Amino acid sequence: MEIVILVSLLSLYCDFTDAECLVVSPARLVVKHGDPASSNCSSDTPVEMGWEATQGGAGLTDNKVKILNWKVDSLTDWNSNPTCFTEGGQCQKQLNITVYKLPDRVSISYRKYPDPMVEGHQYLLQCLVQNIAPIGRLTVTFYKVNTTGEQTELDTQHKSKDNINTPENGTYTLDFTPGRDDDGAQLLCSAMLDLGPEGPQPPPVMESNRLNTNVHYKPQFTSPGCFSMSITEGDTLSLNCSANGNPAPSYDWLLPHADPNTMEERSVVTITNMAKSHSGNYTCFARNPLGNSTCTVKVEVTVDYLPIIAGLASVVILLVISCFIYSSYYKHTRMSH
Ligand SMILES: *[C@@H]1O[C@H](CO)[C@@H](O)[C@H](O)[C@H]1NC(C)=O
Ligand SMILES: *[C@@H]1O[C@H](CO)[C@@H](O)[C@H](O)[C@H]1NC(C)=O
Ligand SMILES: *[C@@H]1O[C@H](CO)[C@@H](O)[C@H](O)[C@H]1NC(C)=O
Ligand SMILES: *[C@@H]1O[C@H](CO)[C@@H](O)[C@H](O)[C@H]1NC(C)=O
Ligand SMILES: *[C@@H]1O[C@H](CO)[C@@H](O)[C@H](O)[C@H]1NC(C)=O
Ligand SMILES: *[C@@H]1O[C@H](CO)[C@@H](O)[C@H](O)[C@H]1NC(C)=O
Ligand SMILES: *[C@@H]1O[C@H](CO)[C@@H](O)[C@H](O)[C@H]1NC(C)=O
Repeated sequence: MEIVILVSLLSLYCDFTDAECLVVSPARLVVKHGDPASSNCSSDTPVEMGWEATQGGAGLTDNKVKILNWKVDSLTDWNSNPTCFTEGGQCQKQLNITVYKLPDRVSISYRKYPDPMVEGHQYLLQCLVQNIAPIGRLTVTFYKVNTTGEQTELDTQHKSKDNINTPENGTYTLDFTPGRDDDGAQLLCSAMLDLGPEGPQPPPVMESNRLNTNVHYKPQFTSPGCFSMSITEGDTLSLNCSANGNPAPSYDWLLPHADPNTMEERSVVTITNMAKSHSGNYTCFARNPLGNSTCTVKVEVTVDYLPIIAGLASVVILLVISCFIYSSYYKHTRMSH
């Protein structure tokens, strides 16, 4: 009876002191697949100990030792859990190893190739990370790089697969709805393997190829597109219609009157020698396969009274002068008589 109690007390003691009876140092390793690895198991008092491992294992030592090294030249087992133990397995300590492998390839593509890509429509982007371990430590970020080179983060994703240690292929997807400003932008994804403080610093990052975007959108007039103006009779009117659109828009003008002085060439309408009757609304249509936009310029033709006033004034001055000359001549002839 006493012996039984003593044994259970002993086992309790051993359980309790499990944390202290053996020390594995370092206790945690982050190893690149195929690289060497090593750790030490030590005890305060000399004991017989061994390492149980799929690679580099060692049976119980013949003698009592205070330290026993575990070492492999090339770690290739994805689930390596070397355990240091004492005789009878009363004390055990596991070495925590994370074996990692950088991806063979990171690539971005459309799930279904959009042809053409249209403003406001939704497309599915896919980032494929090939042959990565452990996938649970991977963070994938989608980026957009606009035409001026600014990079914007679109989304960050992470799969919590903590139980998978062998290499996996990871597929990450994102819904992307392009706007007209995204025309000419590039899309990419990057894969970061964050292995914690024991892992490589900074965490390794691999970038994908870049996808060029060609976003189609309907024409839109750039401000100030449509306005009112007045023009003096006799002058030349020249209106240039210009809208943004992809594909590049074609233009048509709707004029208030047909006129022989009118010349219409694509986006530009020119009328020489404007008359009062040319007043009215000049409407431009910009069209592409996605739609159209219109812009109306209200033109008012004004008469310039200045030459008439100047003409009248000169007639008056001429009259005054001629009156003066005549009167002085008349006076002169009368005086001579
Ligand atoms: C293990 O211990 C030996 C002897 O103390 C030491 O030389 C070696 O650097 C240690 N190895 C590790 C991985 O700590
Ligand atoms: C190994 O270490 C990591 C990080 O400290 C921890 O999250 C994980 O649970 C440990 N694994 C084992 C089997 O102890
Ligand atoms: C690019 O992005 C920056 C910041 O988001 C923005 O200020 C700039 O106008 C953009 N350029 C173009 C051409 O869209
Ligand atoms: C990952 O993808 C590659 C190429 O498609 C394939 O050869 C490999 O078997 C895949 N691996 C897994 C774990 O599915
Ligand atoms: C019309 O405007 C566009 C864009 O501003 C410009 O490229 C084009 O040269 C102009 N055409 C004429 C004839 O002024
Ligand atoms: C010109 O357009 C304006 C509105 O933009 C409208 O009020 C006006 O009646 C139009 N004039 C003619 C002659 O069509
Ligand atoms: C412009 O587009 C609208 C629909 O957005 C259509 O109803 C109209 O007929 C088009 N006009 C021209 C001149 O193409």
